[in-house]
Amino acid sequence: PWANFTQAPPDPIIGLTEAYQNDDFPQKVNVGVGAYRDDSGMPFVLPVVRQVEKEITAEELDHEYSGIAGCPSFVDLAMKFAYGEDCVPLLEGRIAGVQTLSGTGGLRVFGEVLNSFGHTEIHIPNPSWGNHVPIFRNAGLDVKTYSYYNKENSSLDFEGMIADIKNIPEGKCILLHVCAHNPTGMDPQIDQWKEISSVVKEKKLLPFFDCAYQGFASGDARIDAASLRLFVEDGHKVALVQSFSKNMGLYGQRVGALSVVADSQEEAQRVLSQLKVHIRPSYSNPPRHGARIVQKILSDEQKTDAFVEQCSSMAGRINSMRATLKQTLEDLGSSRDWSHITKQIGMFAYSGLTKEEVTVLREKHHIYCTLDGRISMAGVTSKNVKYIAEAIHDVSK
Ligand code: LMR
Repeated sequence: PWANFTQAPPDPIIGLTEAYQNDDFPQKVNVGVGAYRDDSGMPFVLPVVRQVEKEITAEELDHEYSGIAGCPSFVDLAMKFAYGEDCVPLLEGRIAGVQTLSGTGGLRVFGEVLNSFGHTEIHIPNPSWGNHVPIFRNAGLDVKTYSYYNKENSSLDFEGMIADIKNIPEGKCILLHVCAHNPTGMDPQIDQWKEISSVVKEKKLLPFFDCAYQGFASGDARIDAASLRLFVEDGHKVALVQSFSKNMGLYGQRVGALSVVADSQEEAQRVLSQLKVHIRPSYSNPPRHGARIVQKILSDEQKTDAFVEQCSSMAGRINSMRATLKQTLEDLGSSRDWSHITKQIGMFAYSGLTKEEVTVLREKHHIYCTLDGRISMAGVTSKNVKYIAEAIHDVSK
């Protein structure tokens, strides 16, 4: 019965990990998926996560279902973390929130909800995280793009962005990355966010924020949330999806939250009911363990401080690798300008390498990065940085 099932292509990001695992070249490097590695190239579990996991085990909790909306205390803490404790809509109890299967799950649920209430399209930056397109397409939305990045000078195309947003039809949904834009690592400055906010308001657009790197961009979770908080202060009724994959290193636990700012408590209740209507037939209710970890950390001041410090040390290692990679390329005599590597923030270097150069990087040097030239800096270590720089120099000479 499956004879007409054709072979699907590998996923452009996760597929790289599979290809990397099948490669037996000793110096192979995986800089595809954005997953943090320590300086030995090993996955890193935050010490504070290890600590609370022991506490959770000692408590001998049960494994009952959580509600459709997940663990309420986790959702409250996640929202405080993103919006800030003094956020007015939060204090007024008019933000609807649910636990989700990390960022991806929240994006899909809200995409479906939008579609069920008459939205036919969503506007995402060009470029954006590769998975945004299929997530929203599968939620029934037509995915359109607005200008974001200027490849010529490896910087934000702010003028193009504003011009394109002004051309989005009134009332449509616009996706914005809160910080550490994936894949470019280029964010608007706060004054530019103010301008974006006023254009979004003028066009009565619905801002939908994707927050996958809070704490990871600048090392300061408040600074990283500045764009979101500004929009809320400006009175936008934003939707927000949060992931704890990167900042708490909880990738495989799939822990995240989706929240929607409403006009009143009563409206928030109605929105919440619609989020649940979409979650129940999709996966019924979310898993418990990851949410328990986040809940334990964010409900304790000392543990939160430890988390912030450990998250900022991951960001610090990545930044030092950015500097070393750029310097090594310069020392090798590269004629290209690599200054964008240290200007970009977050997990990725949007290198500017072409698809052809990336292919040689992979076939000749066994270095795996996405075809758009995005390099996960989290996979660069003091041991492989020279090898990576030499290979990049070789393919870009
Ligand atoms: C990435 O962009 O590499 C990460 O967000 C992981 C993923 O799921 O694609």
